[in-house]
Amino acid sequence: MTARVGSGFRPGAGLRMIASAVDAYKRVFVEGDAARLLSHPRPVRHSGYDFEVEIGRITPEADGVVSLELRDPDGAPLPAWTPGAHIDVFLPSGRQRQYSLNSDPADRCRYRIAVRRLDNGGGGSREIHEQLRAGDRLTVRGPRNAFPLISASEYLFVAGGIGITPILPMLTEAERARIPWRLMYFGRQRERMPFLCELAGYTGGDVVVRPDDEFGTPDPRMIFSQTPTGAAVYVCGPPALAEAAREVLSLHDPTASLHTERFSAVPVRDGRSFRIRLRRSATEVDVAADESALTAIRRVVPGVAYSCQQGFCGTCRAGVLAGEVDHRDRVPTGGDRDGSMLTCVSRSRSGELELDL
Ligand code: FES
Repeated sequence: MTARVGSGFRPGAGLRMIASAVDAYKRVFVEGDAARLLSHPRPVRHSGYDFEVEIGRITPEADGVVSLELRDPDGAPLPAWTPGAHIDVFLPSGRQRQYSLNSDPADRCRYRIAVRRLDNGGGGSREIHEQLRAGDRLTVRGPRNAFPLISASEYLFVAGGIGITPILPMLTEAERARIPWRLMYFGRQRERMPFLCELAGYTGGDVVVRPDDEFGTPDPRMIFSQTPTGAAVYVCGPPALAEAAREVLSLHDPTASLHTERFSAVPVRDGRSFRIRLRRSATEVDVAADESALTAIRRVVPGVAYSCQQGFCGTCRAGVLAGEVDHRDRVPTGGDRDGSMLTCVSRSRSGELELDL
């Protein structure tokens, strides 16, 4: 989900390890987490595992958006995370969904996620809005970070609607590090834009709020062509916003460091139609050139599991019984795909596939 234009600064793996070790030291021994950690007899869990949380509060944040505060049921510290991280949430129905953490990374006592209700989505957001209550327990996995905040002399954050969620902890981090930043926050209407009041508490940078019904549709050239030299640009919102950022920055400043995260399926590029036979379901379905195999499969098997729709979480993995796969996931070349494919992104080379679904 992180894309880079040109050859801006790239911290090496070694530097990142040192930085995270220093960060962990500071959190524990300088910022006062030591008392909280030492007061709990249980060992602190590492990130990346499944664990149970209890919903503390559910708070309306805007029209159609609620936030959920999540805590350890026994009050133990939650696994550490960094800005841009997300967790996988396993809902009581069995659905698995991913949400960015949008609280303060230094607060190990709680996580906060925010969920926009999508009436035409796969049902996960409706389940959260309609069925979850304070005190319910959920299994979550993570935190994992596919949208990390790099070191930079300055930041430009651009958020569309619910895309503000991973940006909030980035603002917190930038403020803590006293790095100049600017946030441009877009949405259809002010009432539908979550955390507007909370943004007033950030004083270390500029916040520009632009609802479409007051200011009109945003002009990507206006947003990105004024990017300060050397700034890292973080974009989270509709796919069109990220595409526009890429186009404008490639002309304006090809060395700019661009990082994007989207909350919807990646658009199909250079797609060709093909047919899938689903052996266990004893049916078949045609995949159009501009849709994913997952979208087509959901027409005939509505309950099929999926989550990120971007080829990295693995939830949609299906066994391949016949046919040649055009793998478009994020498994490195030569990685073990084990006779399977990620149906949200991968396609057919042979015009037909048979899957174990
Ligand atoms: S849904 Fe996440 S990899 Fe396909």
